[in-house]
Amino acid sequence: MALYELQNINLAEKREEILGKVLSGDQVKISFSFPKKNYMAFLNGMIANLLGDSDLIFLHESFFTILRESLLNAVKANAKRLYFEEHNADINNSADYDRIMKKFRNEVIGDMVVVEENLNRSKLFVNFMVQRSDTHILLRIENNSKMLPAEEERVQKRITQAWSFKDFSEAYDSMYDETEGAGLGIILTVMLLKNVGVTPSDYRIFVDKQMTVAALRIPLLIKKQEMITAVKEKIMREIHLLPTFPQNIIDLQQMCENPDSSINLIADKIKVDPSLTADILKLANSAGFLSVRKIENINEALMRIGLTNLKYILIAASSRKIMDARYKQFSKIWTHSLDVAAYSRFILNKLSLRRLQDKVFITSLLHDLGKIVLLSVDLDLTNWIADFVQQRGIRSTTILEEVSIGISHSTIGKLIANKWNFADFMEEAIACHHAPLQSSDENRIVVYVTYLANIFVGISSKKYTFDHIDPAVLSHLSINSMKECENLYNYCTISFKESRDL
Ligand SMILES: [Fe+2]
Ligand SMILES: [Fe+2]
Repeated sequence: MALYELQNINLAEKREEILGKVLSGDQVKISFSFPKKNYMAFLNGMIANLLGDSDLIFLHESFFTILRESLLNAVKANAKRLYFEEHNADINNSADYDRIMKKFRNEVIGDMVVVEENLNRSKLFVNFMVQRSDTHILLRIENNSKMLPAEEERVQKRITQAWSFKDFSEAYDSMYDETEGAGLGIILTVMLLKNVGVTPSDYRIFVDKQMTVAALRIPLLIKKQEMITAVKEKIMREIHLLPTFPQNIIDLQQMCENPDSSINLIADKIKVDPSLTADILKLANSAGFLSVRKIENINEALMRIGLTNLKYILIAASSRKIMDARYKQFSKIWTHSLDVAAYSRFILNKLSLRRLQDKVFITSLLHDLGKIVLLSVDLDLTNWIADFVQQRGIRSTTILEEVSIGISHSTIGKLIANKWNFADFMEEAIACHHAPLQSSDENRIVVYVTYLANIFVGISSKKYTFDHIDPAVLSHLSINSMKECENLYNYCTISFKESRDL
C-alpha cells in the first residue's frame, strides 16, 4: 500500500504518481488532518479519473458528494473530540455531553478556520483509502477518534432507516434529528447510493480498534436505478403533453439551413408575426450576442447575424413562447439564461474560441429549460432542494433532484430537447450543464463553456463560489490556475456590466 501524508508532500509533484497507482490497482492511502481546498480538488480529479477509466463517469457527482460528506463527518468527529479535551469535559458523561455539544455547535461548526488550526496542532487525522479491484472500487474513510457506543447505535439506526425510504425528501421529513445535524450526511449518502444501485451491504460505518471507519464498495458493473415518484410521473406527463414547434417556425428553420434561401423571403415570413419579430430583435440585441450598435429591424438583423444564428434565435424564441404559454412565466430563468449567454460570449472571447459563439449562445439560452417544468410541477420541493444544496455547499442540484424527485432538471431539459428535435450538441449541453465530465469529446468545449458561464453567473449572485468549478474543466480549457480562473471571471463581470450600461 502506498501512503501519502498530504501535509508533508508537494501535492503538485505527486499528483501523477498517486493517480498512476490508483489506476493500476494499487491500494493508496491518503492522510491529512483537515481537508484543505486543494486536497478536495485533488481528490475530485482523482475520482473523476478513476470513474472515467472504469466507465462510471455518470457516478461522478454522487460519488464526490458522498466522499465529501464522509470526509466532513470524519473531520467533524475529530474536531468534536478535540473540543471536549480542550474543555476538560468527559464525552461519556451525558450532562457534560449536552452542555459541551451545544457550545461546540454554536462556536465551532461553521468556523472552519478554527477547526483547521486546532486539528493541525493535534494528533487527530483522517485517512482516505482507495483501491480498484477486479470487481469493485473500494473506499475507506477513517478517523482516529472512536465513535462512542451511543453514537454508533444512532448511526446504525439511521443507516437502516435511510435504506427504507423511497426518496430523500421523505427521509428528510421523517428523520431530521435536532440533536445532531451530522446524521443528514449519512441519510444523503444512503439515498445517493440507493439511487445508483449500491446495496446496503456495500456501505458500512463501524469501529475498528481506535478508529471510526466508513467503508464503501462500488461494483464496477453498476446500473443506475430508476426512481419512480409521483412528482416524476407528473413531469413525464408534462413533457409528453408539451406541444411541438409550430409549422411556420419549422419552415423558417429549414429556410435558414438552406444556403440558397433569400434573406428577404425569410424576413417577410418573420414579419407576419409581430411578437416573433420583437423576440428576435430582442435576442439579437442581447449582451450574449454582439452589437455595438442597436439592430432596428429584421432585415438588418438577418444581415448582421447570419442564417445560422437566426436559426438558433428562432429556436430560443419559440421555446420560450411555448413555455410561457403553458407555465407560469418564469422570467427569472430567462433573465438568468440571457446572463449566462453573455458570460459565455466573454469567456469565448478571452479563450480565443469565438468560432463556437453561435452554438454556445443557444445552449446558454436553453440550458435550464427543464427547470421551468420542474418549478411548475413542484415549486416547494424545487426550492427546498436549492436551499439544501446551498446550505450544505453541495456543488450541484442535479443529484439532489435525482434522489428526491427521481429526475433532474438537466434530464428533463434533455427530454424536451429530444422532443423538439434539437441538434445533438444542444441536447448534450442541456443534459450535462451540471455534470460536464459526462459530455462527449465532440461537444466537450461547448458543454464546458456553458457550464463555466453558468457557474460564473452563480458566483456573481453569490449562489456559487469558485470551489464549485470542476478543475478538470478548467485544465481542459487551458485555464491553468484558480488565479487565472478568477481573472477570467473578473473580465467577464466587467464586460457584462459594460454591455449592460451600453
Ligand atoms: Fe441548471
Ligand atoms: Fe443555470
